[in-house]
Amino acid sequence: MAISVENSVFHLETAHTLYQMKVDSFGILNHLWYGARTDCCMDYLLDYPDVGFAGNPYEAGNRRTYSLNSLPLEYAAGGAGDYRVPAVSVTHADGSGALDLRFREYRIRQGKYEIPGLPAVYAEDDEAETLEIILEDALSSVEISLLYGVLPGEDVITRAAIVKNNGNSGIKINRVHSLCMDIPRGEWEWIHFHGRHAMERQMERSPLIHGIQENGSTRGTSSHQQNPAVLLCEKGCTETNGFCMGAALMYSGGFQTQIERDQVDQVRWVMGINPDTFAWKLDPGECFHAPEVILSCSGQGMGELTHRFHHVIRHHVCRGEYKLSQRPVLINNWEATYFDFDDAKIERIAEQAAELGIDMLVLDDGWFGKRDDDMSGLGDWSVNETKLRGGLGRLIGRINEMGMKFGLWFEPEMVSEDSELYRQHPDWAIRIPGRNPVRGRYQLVLDMSRPEVVEHLYQVMSRMLRENHIEYVKWDMNRSICDWYTAKLPAERQAEMPHRYVLGLYQLLDRLTGEFPHVLFEGCSGGGGRFDAGMLYYCPQIWCSDNTDGHDRTLIQYGTSFFYPVSTVGAHVSAVPNHQTGRVTALGTRGTVAMAGTFGYELDLNMLSREEKEQVALQVKNYKAHQDLIHNGRYYRLSNPFEENGAAWAFVSEDRNKVLIQGVVFRAAANVLRMRLRLAGLKADAVYRSVQDGRTYTGQALMTGGILLPEIKGDDAAFEICLEEV
Ligand code: DGJ
Repeated sequence: MAISVENSVFHLETAHTLYQMKVDSFGILNHLWYGARTDCCMDYLLDYPDVGFAGNPYEAGNRRTYSLNSLPLEYAAGGAGDYRVPAVSVTHADGSGALDLRFREYRIRQGKYEIPGLPAVYAEDDEAETLEIILEDALSSVEISLLYGVLPGEDVITRAAIVKNNGNSGIKINRVHSLCMDIPRGEWEWIHFHGRHAMERQMERSPLIHGIQENGSTRGTSSHQQNPAVLLCEKGCTETNGFCMGAALMYSGGFQTQIERDQVDQVRWVMGINPDTFAWKLDPGECFHAPEVILSCSGQGMGELTHRFHHVIRHHVCRGEYKLSQRPVLINNWEATYFDFDDAKIERIAEQAAELGIDMLVLDDGWFGKRDDDMSGLGDWSVNETKLRGGLGRLIGRINEMGMKFGLWFEPEMVSEDSELYRQHPDWAIRIPGRNPVRGRYQLVLDMSRPEVVEHLYQVMSRMLRENHIEYVKWDMNRSICDWYTAKLPAERQAEMPHRYVLGLYQLLDRLTGEFPHVLFEGCSGGGGRFDAGMLYYCPQIWCSDNTDGHDRTLIQYGTSFFYPVSTVGAHVSAVPNHQTGRVTALGTRGTVAMAGTFGYELDLNMLSREEKEQVALQVKNYKAHQDLIHNGRYYRLSNPFEENGAAWAFVSEDRNKVLIQGVVFRAAANVLRMRLRLAGLKADAVYRSVQDGRTYTGQALMTGGILLPEIKGDDAAFEICLEEV
């Protein structure tokens, strides 16, 4: 049993970790432990200091030392004597806001719980167990169900929460976080991934200050600017040593993470839907389901934590026929043509791609409606026959004859004012009555909280997919959302709209991915503006960034790698000078960097020289030869490109007898020693031979002394070393 209960202590055990909670004599659920397995009840760590200005529950009598403000709470509510950031806060019908949550009951069941309408980790019944603990506020009869999914083999615990109103009058939920964890005193640091369009997921590591540190998004999407996945680690924790915890929220809308270091250096960590763009009216008898958070921890540094997240996301989040199977190497026409193409141009790109071994052509933005630039056409998902003479069927037929699959771009959630859809349904665009709507990339956002909008999109897209041999869909989303208002909800429910938007999006994705299991869906939001575990439930890969520069991509992919598996990272080789940065990097560098992803091209191959085309053919061959190792092997970060003069990573096969080391050395310098990389995850006593130069090393030598890179000339030069066990 992964879940057991003894003397009011809940033990959640995975192969290497233990999570413990205890109900105390006042019915308060205390958090005891999340970390290594200890074979011990960790309640001896509970301390009861007499801290000034602490509140004491009435029934504690004269016990000044019993305070919710000092105890580690499993799920903290606002308004009842704990002044730290709450996980949940409500307003009752009388306007008061206290929730005094006490333990009522628990249930354990085999298998992993699901969450209606929301993505969640899934597992076979023999792979997971579920614990549900119900806390209740006696006066209002508001109840909180805490859900725990324990996946012992994955070393992962998931959490979610349900608020239920069993009272007689309505309440307003002001915030309901999915994660709440109180962590003992220590020297903690947090790592989060900030960025901007075309520079997503830049890693930032900082010590915790007293007070609250926060990241989040109010953009209606998880955003380029912050990512809903955060690490908390002990000071000094490295890739291979030290303790760290990670949490990834399975949610694609606005989110919030808050980490508070309190007056006595304890830490509270909450994560969930962003309360700044959320409130929910809960009538008597109704439930609200908060999204899921995936949790793991490691005592062997961040590398091990990464492996756990990569494995659980690949095996228990991503779905569909492509989740573990080989992804097609694709050519996308966006940076080759932008809006300026016709069928002949696309066919010429496809012909060249087919010759070089590429598997699929993806036709990007501009194939539909009136769409010669980004000012019109969104919403009109029927083919533009001026550009594609003979229609989509003819073009797809030609591509298929070349031996290639065909994929198509959509931006379902958007509408241009200059479109048939907008002329017919101007009220479907999000805007506040009486105010001009805010435009982003000239476009407006469809109100995905309205069932008729979701139904329309389902009808149009499913017809396209049914009537045409489309084997891939790129699902784009190119602006942030504001002007939250929907004609379908009364005033007191308007704050529900951002979450209802996400529910509508998930519903559409669920219907389409369910009905078209052979289609590979790739998520995208101006690159990686919605790169989160929620989207990965529907789309097993996501376009990582609109920045395809070989140098910048090493930084973006480094940050992305902490939580998200390589098989989910859309990465392409594009032309130089790079369209986003103007930088020129070698074709070899661009190829090596794109190999640490789903691999493809995003340029007009006809513009390449004969030698470059030969190089492309070799890159495709090389990628296909290594794809199994790259996607199914373990990924190791070998350098920190934010601090060192290069990015280096390695893939090690599960049986540890094959290793592919790749990377880019940033700045060339004269009279310096060669870069040395210390590997990880090898068999210490095995002997490995380099495929490139035949030299042999023991695993122990490679993991301690490391390996010397070949001499490299020029800036941003890539390297690749393959090792095989002898
Ligand atoms: C943003 C995407 O990230 C690009 O790859 C491309 O599809 C454009 N949108 C098209 O408008």
